[in-house]
Amino acid sequence: MNNIKKIIIALAMCFIVASILKVGISRVTYSKTGYKGELPKVGATIYKYDDEFMSYIRNSMENDAYGRIALNMNDSQNDQDTQLKQVDEMISKGVRALAINLVDPKAAKSVIVKAKAANLPVIFFNKEPDASVLNSYGKAWFVGTDSKESGILQGKMIVDLWNENKNKWDKNKDGKLSYVLLKGEPGHPDAEARSKYALDEINKAGITVEELAASTAMWDAAKAKDKMDGWISKFNNRIEFVISNNDVMALGALDSLEKAGYLSEEKFVPVVGIDAIPDATKKIKAGTMVGTILNDANNQGKAIIDLVTNAANGKNIINGTSWKITNNKYIRIPYVTIIKDNIDIAEQAYK
Ligand code: GAL
Repeated sequence: MNNIKKIIIALAMCFIVASILKVGISRVTYSKTGYKGELPKVGATIYKYDDEFMSYIRNSMENDAYGRIALNMNDSQNDQDTQLKQVDEMISKGVRALAINLVDPKAAKSVIVKAKAANLPVIFFNKEPDASVLNSYGKAWFVGTDSKESGILQGKMIVDLWNENKNKWDKNKDGKLSYVLLKGEPGHPDAEARSKYALDEINKAGITVEELAASTAMWDAAKAKDKMDGWISKFNNRIEFVISNNDVMALGALDSLEKAGYLSEEKFVPVVGIDAIPDATKKIKAGTMVGTILNDANNQGKAIIDLVTNAANGKNIINGTSWKITNNKYIRIPYVTIIKDNIDIAEQAYK
């Protein structure tokens, strides 16, 4: 009898100790009325992980979130429906704020409907929603860049490089800059603005151009290489410039040009991109690519996390930060022109 008592007491004690430990371990708990615990939960989406530039933004966000928020990061796999389901899931898990890289910039409306219903703040990033949509919700903001600025800077860079080198680069000596243009995703504010404003700058500088071809390669290296292979066999020596909406496509084009022997001294075709990702800065250093525009992934990631952390804590969105906000809605990180001479700026930014 004594032994049975002892066993019962021992079991009861084990149960009590286990219960105490369990409470101690689950320090982060959520209740219906909101968060109770150490780090506020925040939900984020990247339109697809398989996008090199976005992977730098994601890294910056994850590093910066450490110790400040519990970040639930999702790969939307380039599918808007998947992303909307992820938003529903994050809301049902009790996130306090959302950071959304849309798949389709037009889907901002649907995300806002969900955020509004749950009374949650939402920070859109990289793919800018229409101003009217952003303004329709007081708790919506955008972190990114000014797309137009990247086009203008790329155009000015092309003008300077062409004027310095046209003796070599104007192969048929007709005084025209004959180019092919690799575009990003159709309807993406960056792709549209970069194509338009880069060409506007070249025209404004009084350079006569000939557009041999322009096509989307969806920000993708393999697609860009395919396009370039086709253009090389179609236009042969007539291509005098490759203008690309981003570096990844520029690198795809470079691959194609290299294989066809177009990077040798006398046949050299200049290629420019945008982003200044490390793979591109290496090519600029080596002299096979002539320039790019720094798209500052690191600072964009930091700004996203600063804003979403403040939002999750119910604070003013730029509280305790030095980000400049315009129209009470936008944080825009400046672009920087990068050529061989100032390559260290790009290397530093992507360190
Ligand atoms: C752009 C960037 C591209 C691509 C795109 C995705 O800003 O230049 O390389 O990542 O965003 O939305």
